[in-house]
Amino acid sequence: MTIIKEVASKERSKVVCYWFMFFFPEFNVVHPDSAKILMKSSEPKSIGFGGAYGMMKSWLGDGLLISSGKKWERNRRLITPAFHFGILKPYVDIYNSSTDKFLNNLKEFAATNKPVDVFPLVSLETLDTILRCAFSYEGKIQTEGLKHPYVAAVSRLAHLLAERWLQPWLYWDTLYYITPKGREYRKLCQYVHDFSEGVIRERQQTFLTDGPPSNRHLDFLDILLTAKDDKGVGLSFDDIRAEVDTFLFEGHDTTASAISWAIYHLGKHQKEQDIVYSELSELLNNNKQVSWENLQTMPKLTAFIKESMRMIAPVPGVNRQLTSPMTIDNVTIPAGLVVDMGIYMLHHHPDVWPEHDVIKLKIFTRRHCRATPIQFPTIRSRIKKLHWSTLCNG
Ligand code: HEM
Repeated sequence: MTIIKEVASKERSKVVCYWFMFFFPEFNVVHPDSAKILMKSSEPKSIGFGGAYGMMKSWLGDGLLISSGKKWERNRRLITPAFHFGILKPYVDIYNSSTDKFLNNLKEFAATNKPVDVFPLVSLETLDTILRCAFSYEGKIQTEGLKHPYVAAVSRLAHLLAERWLQPWLYWDTLYYITPKGREYRKLCQYVHDFSEGVIRERQQTFLTDGPPSNRHLDFLDILLTAKDDKGVGLSFDDIRAEVDTFLFEGHDTTASAISWAIYHLGKHQKEQDIVYSELSELLNNNKQVSWENLQTMPKLTAFIKESMRMIAPVPGVNRQLTSPMTIDNVTIPAGLVVDMGIYMLHHHPDVWPEHDVIKLKIFTRRHCRATPIQFPTIRSRIKKLHWSTLCNG
């Protein structure tokens, strides 16, 4: 990533090409003009050899993150109610109580005055939140931590996946699955699938005994179990499990990364920290619980979080595999090749962000906002109108 950033910055390139493992040419779109062409296409995700999505398939199945084409379109339509902004409103109490538990866990470290790696604690908090919001699952995630077998399994799977990405010789499935780590990965996948199946079956049982939910708030699992297409056909059991696994992973790992980096940036930038702190003190006025209305009136904190996600994109890139040749910036890329969209680079391209390595709250305040969805794809709500509307509720 550093090399791509250097090349793009020095040469002001819109596409950077390099040889991956000496044999595979990879194209990286790093400028809004070139990214737009890829984002407007409906090319599928790369699931072939070395494809990032393909490697996650044995864990996440054919859920929204990995599927493409007709399957993605149908399931996305069925699950769209789950992405509605309003669905978040009843969850504010859960956010408050999850955050209280997180702060409690942090207190222990505050007393020691020593540095603390916040990521594992934030991950527990986001996993707890997504399990409670989307699946109404009330486990002791934050108190048990890695002692909770599901937490331990998800955390280890994410670690093994990241390790594999950095070891191209393990991209061959056959080779990977005979290594001890590959076998461990498989075993853990089986465990998390069993866990998700248990959660699904329990809810199916509730439907059988109590009927479908009528007067309570619908969570993500209810939406999955009740969704029907025009022909009255719902999602298969495997589809539901894939979406559950996808939501659990996508919903906690990305947010954990975004929050951890925001905490890091707050610590590093005292002036901005003071600005955000005084905004919140004034707004909350010693009230420890944040309300839905409060969330709409935190412009400085919102700008800070967006700036933090611009500095370090929680998902640094996504990619697509071409099914037909594509011309980008006068280069025709043949069918079959993988094109990466370097989200991190898009957030740092000097043509768009002249002082890209400096945190500036003004960039994202209403009066000064000049970021378009293509320049700042991390925020999906602004990208909705594009055909490639797979960026989530980030
Ligand atoms: C800071 C937070 C987040 C960031 C930066 C982020 C980023 C992304 C990106 C870049 C993609 C596109 C992947 C691709 O098309 O190749 C994506 C897809 C997705 N994300 Fe997120 N995400 C975040 C939070 C969440 C949360 C909280 C959930 C669920 C509760 C979620 C669920 C999904 C799903 C289901 C998809 C696949 C959507 C589709 O293709 O229709 N994400 N996310």
